[in-house]
Amino acid sequence: MNKYKRNKISLIGAGQIGANLAMMAAQKNLGDVVMFDVVESMPMGKALDIHQTTPVQGLSSTITGTNSYADIEGSDLIIITAGIPRKPGMSRDDLLQTNAKIMTDVAQNVKKYAPNAFVIVISNPLDAMVYLFQKVSGMPKQKVLGMAGVLDAARFRTFISMETGVSVEDITAFVLGGHGDTMVPLPRYSTVGGIPLTEYPGLSAEKIDAMVKRTAGGGGEIVALLKTGSAFFAPAASAIAMAESILFDKKRIFPCAVYCEGEYGYKDMHIGLPAMLGAEGIEKILEVKLTAEEKSALDNSAKAVEGLKEDLKRLGFL
Ligand code: APR
Repeated sequence: MNKYKRNKISLIGAGQIGANLAMMAAQKNLGDVVMFDVVESMPMGKALDIHQTTPVQGLSSTITGTNSYADIEGSDLIIITAGIPRKPGMSRDDLLQTNAKIMTDVAQNVKKYAPNAFVIVISNPLDAMVYLFQKVSGMPKQKVLGMAGVLDAARFRTFISMETGVSVEDITAFVLGGHGDTMVPLPRYSTVGGIPLTEYPGLSAEKIDAMVKRTAGGGGEIVALLKTGSAFFAPAASAIAMAESILFDKKRIFPCAVYCEGEYGYKDMHIGLPAMLGAEGIEKILEVKLTAEEKSALDNSAKAVEGLKEDLKRLGFL
């Protein structure tokens, strides 16, 4: 096998996030990109446009668009953003039903054409969608993961930087749990220049609490500002960081939606936990000590994720 063979990265969904994924994957030299979407010819148009940036950017990736799943055959890594956003008047069940139907179709096709790929799911509701993908496809648990925590941690890091004036480069953040209002940003395990946030000089508990709350509502804040659609630059950048760690065996530690088999006391569900990502996919899940209060917040988040799983069962998807 040629060690230097180009990777093939397929993007299922060529919407706002999909387009940014394609651009960033090329810029990071991750490999050749295939953009799939059900909308006729649109992915071909976006792919051609992005491909035409490569001469100017000095990049060697090819970017192609398709409406045929056969073109994702043999992909090394797949990132899924297929789905519809919640529309006014749409119930939570309606959204779950629509996106679960889409995810079932995506999972069947990924299994058919690229059973050996690593898969990163971005579609919402994230924890339920990655769980459903894994159940329908039956693909290995260590190769199927959800992107949420990297984005949530990036938001927390940005807010900490805005508050302290310190470069985001020197700020780390730890966010656990499901992707939604119940997520658990952990100030004790977040640092500014190596100093735990809770010990950082001049930073009050009230200010930390406000940043935690802003992080948990970070997606909604952007939706409200945009008026149509949801965040797409930072979600794309977050998934690309995860892809890079897997494809280049970087062994970075990221909060990811991973399949639990007893970690933190959770079983048979996907929830955001710190994981090491490398050439095997999810190589390790880290179990850290939590205070009673932190654990109860995580349990509360797990309960919300469990509720989505029950909804999927009730609607006949599992
Ligand atoms: N197969 C493939 N693609 C599909 C399917 C399907 N069955 N159904 C819809 N799509 C495509 C749409 O045609 C659209 O191009 O998914 C794309 C979604 O793109 P956008 O609506 O622009 O949404 P985006 O901002 O990219 O977000 C995608 O990620 O963060 C989550 O909540 C967000 O679930 C949403 C997803």
